[in-house]
Amino acid sequence: MRPTVAPFPAARLRRVRKSPAMRGLVRENTLAADDLIWPVFLREGKGERTPVPSMPGVERLTVDLVAEAAAEAASLGIPAICLFPYTEADARTEDCAMAWDPENLTNRAIRAIKSAAPEIAVMTDIALDPYNINGHDGFVVDGEIVNDKTVEALVKMALAQADAGADILGPSDMMDGRIGAIRRALEETGHSNVSILSYAAKYASAFYGPFRDAVGASAALTGDKNTYQMDPANSDEALRLVERDLLEGADMVMVKPGLPYLDICRRVRDTFGVPTFAYQVSGEYAMIQAAAQNGWIDGEKVMAESLMAFKRAGCMGILTYFAPRMARRLKEG
Ligand code: PBG
Repeated sequence: MRPTVAPFPAARLRRVRKSPAMRGLVRENTLAADDLIWPVFLREGKGERTPVPSMPGVERLTVDLVAEAAAEAASLGIPAICLFPYTEADARTEDCAMAWDPENLTNRAIRAIKSAAPEIAVMTDIALDPYNINGHDGFVVDGEIVNDKTVEALVKMALAQADAGADILGPSDMMDGRIGAIRRALEETGHSNVSILSYAAKYASAFYGPFRDAVGASAALTGDKNTYQMDPANSDEALRLVERDLLEGADMVMVKPGLPYLDICRRVRDTFGVPTFAYQVSGEYAMIQAAAQNGWIDGEKVMAESLMAFKRAGCMGILTYFAPRMARRLKEG
C-alpha cells in the first residue's frame, strides 16, 4: 500500500514537525534501555580494569568488577550483558580445551553475575577464537577450518556455559549445523529454557579489528575468516542462513556488523518477523569515538542517532558498547 499525499498546500508535510510535541506524536520508533545488550570484555585478576586502546571508553574487567558492572547495568534497565574473555597469547592452544572448562573466565563470570545481579540475562559467545592458537573460530586442520569437529567442540562449550547459568547462548562461529547440534544437546541435558541468539548473518568484516585487539586475537589470527563468515556483497544468502538457523532451533537471530548492514536487518525482519538483533561492532564504536574525541562530530548525538537507526531498520535490540552510556542518557531524559 502506497501512502497518499494531498497536493500542496493541502498537504504541508512540515506541519507535524513544527514542535517537539508534534514530532513526538508522529514518531514511528522509540529507543529504550531494554533494547540494549551490553558486550563486555573479561580479564583475569581481581579489582583491575585495563583500557582497550582502540576502543576509547571500553575496559577489560576482572570477574568481581564485571559482577558490579552487571548490577549497575541492571539498575539502568539494561536487560542483558554479553561476555567476551581476553586470553593471553601463551594460554592459547591447538585443542582449545579451555573453551569448555567449567572454570574458565567466562564461566566464572557467568556465576558471579548470576549471584550479584540475577535479574540481568547473561549472554555468551560460542566460538573457539579466544582459545585457539591461530585465532580462528574453528579448528584448523591442514590449513582448512574444519566444520564438524568444530561443532562437537562448540556443543561442549555451550553445555559448560549453560551449566554455569547462561541465559542466552550466542554462537558466533558461522559453522554449519551448530545451532541444531547445540539445541539438541541442550534439550538432552535439561537446559530446555536456555535461549540461542544465533549470529546468523555474520559478515567477514574489517570492522571487527578493535574487538580482536580487545580479546587478544589480533596477533594470533593467521589469514582471514572468509571461508566461514559471509561475503559483504551478499544479501539473499543472509536470508538462507537465518531461515536455516531458525529451523534448527534459534530463538533469535543477529545481523553483524550493524550500521553498514541495515538493509539486511530490514529484510530479515520483514521476511521472518522473528526477534531480530544487530551488533554495532567494535569498529563502528571506534569510529564514532575517534571522531567525537577529535571534536569532528557530537558523540552523544551520533550515538543516539546510530542506535535509533537500528530500531527504524526493524531490530528489536542492539548489542552495543554504548549500552550503559545510552541507558544513562535515556534515564536522565
Ligand atoms: C568472534 C567474534 C568476533 C566478534 C564477536 N565475536 C570477531 C570475529 O569474528 O573475528 C566481533 C565483535 C566486534 O567487533 O565488536 N567469534
